[in-house]
Parts: sequence; structure tokens; C-alpha cells
Amino acid sequence: MDVDIVLIDGIVIVNDRETVRSLAIDRGKIEGFYKHGEEPESKRSIDCRGLYILPGLIDMHVHLRDLNQSEKEDYETGTMAAAAGGITTVVDMPNSSPPVLTREVLDQKITSATTKRYVNVGFYAGIAERFDTSMVPDILGLKVYPHSPLTDGVNYDIERIRNCVQLANKHNLPLLFHPDSSTEDEKPETREEFFLIHSCESEVNSLQAFLDAKVEYEARLHVCHVSCAATTRLILEHRAEHTLTAEVTPHHIFLSGGDFSHDDGVAKMLPPLRSPYDSQMLAQALCKKCAIDCVVSDHAPHINSEKTMPFIEAPSGIPGLETTLPLILTEVFEGRISWVDFLRCCCSGPAMILGIPSKGILTEGYDADIVLVRRQEWYISGADFYSKAKITPFEGRRVLAKPVTTIVGGEVVYHEGRFMVGPGIVGRVPIRKV
Ligand code: DOR
Ligand code: ZN
Ligand code: ZN
Repeated sequence: MDVDIVLIDGIVIVNDRETVRSLAIDRGKIEGFYKHGEEPESKRSIDCRGLYILPGLIDMHVHLRDLNQSEKEDYETGTMAAAAGGITTVVDMPNSSPPVLTREVLDQKITSATTKRYVNVGFYAGIAERFDTSMVPDILGLKVYPHSPLTDGVNYDIERIRNCVQLANKHNLPLLFHPDSSTEDEKPETREEFFLIHSCESEVNSLQAFLDAKVEYEARLHVCHVSCAATTRLILEHRAEHTLTAEVTPHHIFLSGGDFSHDDGVAKMLPPLRSPYDSQMLAQALCKKCAIDCVVSDHAPHINSEKTMPFIEAPSGIPGLETTLPLILTEVFEGRISWVDFLRCCCSGPAMILGIPSKGILTEGYDADIVLVRRQEWYISGADFYSKAKITPFEGRRVLAKPVTTIVGGEVVYHEGRFMVGPGIVGRVPIRKV
């Protein structure tokens, strides 16, 4: 019997080495790898000579907005940006408007994403004073923002943090947190105050508070967007597989605050960009020390006119879905990140943390979520993004990797700048854990 698709003679990574193989896809799953000339008969074939066949990236930290903030981004533009960026699964944060604190809002998001999706979409929920347990089957984790709580009047003292850790553990979910121990009363009036309030000390203190609150060994903590060298050291001291995991963004690895002297919000995000020393240490933590489990975009779209306002007035957050793969694979092609670390941090690591079955690895029986990548020099241009947010601090940056074709569940969704199917056809919503 014919298989559905064969990707012919692409470059696959086996034991950190590039090898030419064909990959067969059948009924949405990977059917097997074949040497040249040994491929099974297929209904369709794609010539992959010169292209890398890689697992689609899993981006476990994105803000796709939608609902009351659809002017910033919606599930259609957000998941188009993901597909064009070689990302086949995204997990959406709960700090939307309205925030995800009830089953009702979660259902609104699921309904919207189901009809607008171009890739797989999973969800996180926040923790209201009375946690809505009916959300549990359809979420992949709980997320808290100690510096900016989703519910008014909540103070992230040790008791509140302890309750959140216990709650997540009870439902066998990871507790994700934005490490920042500043409070909402601390309102910066200048750029300098912004950096002082959201300092590395604040990040480290927040991580320490969550570590102190984690009494049960098996409770799982996930540290969002680590940005400081000191934080990576504290993570290393407490590292325990599966129960303390951490992520880093490309912007914190590749950029530092001093690179942006103009007074606008183009490079304003939380946590802020740090010193060159911090970014170097993040790269080391990712590659040499294994203190970091995954790379995430923290795609946080805002209206373009908001980002060009003076720094202190501009909202925090930058788009990242269309820059993560090119930026990270450039490091691989230039020898600074190994293939093994790329596959671990962008694909299998997030799948492991989220507990999502059959994703993140190209192997027989796993989901055919795949990106074909060409090694090609090009320059990042926000104007070309599918995201509504087109202002990026990576504008004009030279990169060496271009996603050419994106396959979700065995269906080609994106190819050379074109979408091959309409919204709501490929991918699953919501992605559930095992
Ligand atoms: O820069 C940021 N933007 N950091 C956050 O923690 C939130 C995000 C957003 O939602 O815009
Ligand atoms: Zn955050
Ligand atoms: Zn975020």
C-alpha cells in the first residue's frame, strides 16, 4: 500500500551528524526513514535535496492575544506566523484579555483557535482565588505572574506561592512562573527606574522564593525566560531533572540592553535585555552546562504604533515566532550550537516538559510535524512577518536558515511563502498531555 508522502533525499540529523535520508509519512505519522532508492511507493513526493528535514519547533511560550486584543494578534495571524517560522506547536499564555481563569474563557479561546489555527495550539491557565478545576483536562500547565498578578489584590508572598506549587502538583501540571519579585506599586518613571525595578536581583529573589516554596520533590517548577547569569547559577545548584526546568529566549541570548540607545519601545520587554556578560552566560548555560531545557520565543505582539512610543510609555514585548528558528539555526550553522542542543531545546525538551506524546522527535510512529529548512543567507525584515506585530529588535540581522516548507500532522500547511490550506484544517486544538 502506498504511503501518503515521501520526503526524498533530505538532510536529517543522526547522532549529531548530517546524513541524507528519505522520510515517509502516512496517516499523519512518520512511517520510517529510508536510504536513497529504497523508499516505499507514495501518493506524493517532495524533492528535499539540499534541504534539512527537522522536527517542527515546539514553542511553549507565546501570547497569541485574540478575544479582546485581536488588534494586536489573533489565532489566525499568530499561527500563520508560527507556520511560516517553522513552528508546528505553540502554547498560549493566560495573560490575555480576558485572562484564562475560568472554563468559560478557556472555551472561548479553544473555539476561536479551532477555527483559525494553522498549527497545533495548547493552552495554560492562571490561578484565581478559587481555582477552576474543570480547565485541567485541556491545559498543559499553570502560569503565574508574581509582579503583575492576573487577579487583583493577590500578593505573591510565600504562602500564595506555596499554594500555587501544591495546586499544580495536585493536578500533575508544571507551574510556570515569570521570575520577578517587584510589585505593582513600583511604577517606573524613567528608563533607568524600569531596569532597576526589574533587576537581576529581582529575578534571582523570585526564583529563590519559588524554590523555597517547593517542598514536595515531585512538584514541577518551570522558570520562564531566564535572563541573568546569576539565575542560571541558582538553577544549576538546584537542578533536578523534570522537577526544575527553565527556558531562554533568543533575544536574551543575542541582544543586550546597551545595543539600543534610542528612546523607543522597540527593544522593551520583560524581563529586560541585560548586559553582554549575562547573554554570554545564557548561551553557555544552554549549550555547555545544560542548565536550560528549552528555547521559547515569548512572542508578545503589540500594535506597531505602541512600540514606537517613548520607552517608558511603550508596552513590553516583541514578536518572535518568525525569528526563533532562523536565529538559532544560524548558531548551529556557524558551529556555536550543536545539532543535539538545537533538537533538545527547540523540539524534544519542550515536548518532555509539557508531557505531550509523540511530538518533538522525528522517529517512527511520532506525529509528522516537520519543517524543511534551506541554508540560505537572508536579512530579517519585520515588514515581511505574518504576525500583526512587525517591529523587531532583530530588524536587518543577517541569518543563515530559512524555513521553506512546514508540515503539520502530515499535511503541508506552508510552502515557500504560501499557505497551502485555509485556517482550521491542520493541527489540533487543544493539545493535551498524556
Ligand atoms: O515583555 C513581556 N510581554 N513580558 C511579559 O511577561 C508579558 C508579555 C506580554 O504579554 O506582552
Ligand atoms: Zn513573562
Ligand atoms: Zn511571556
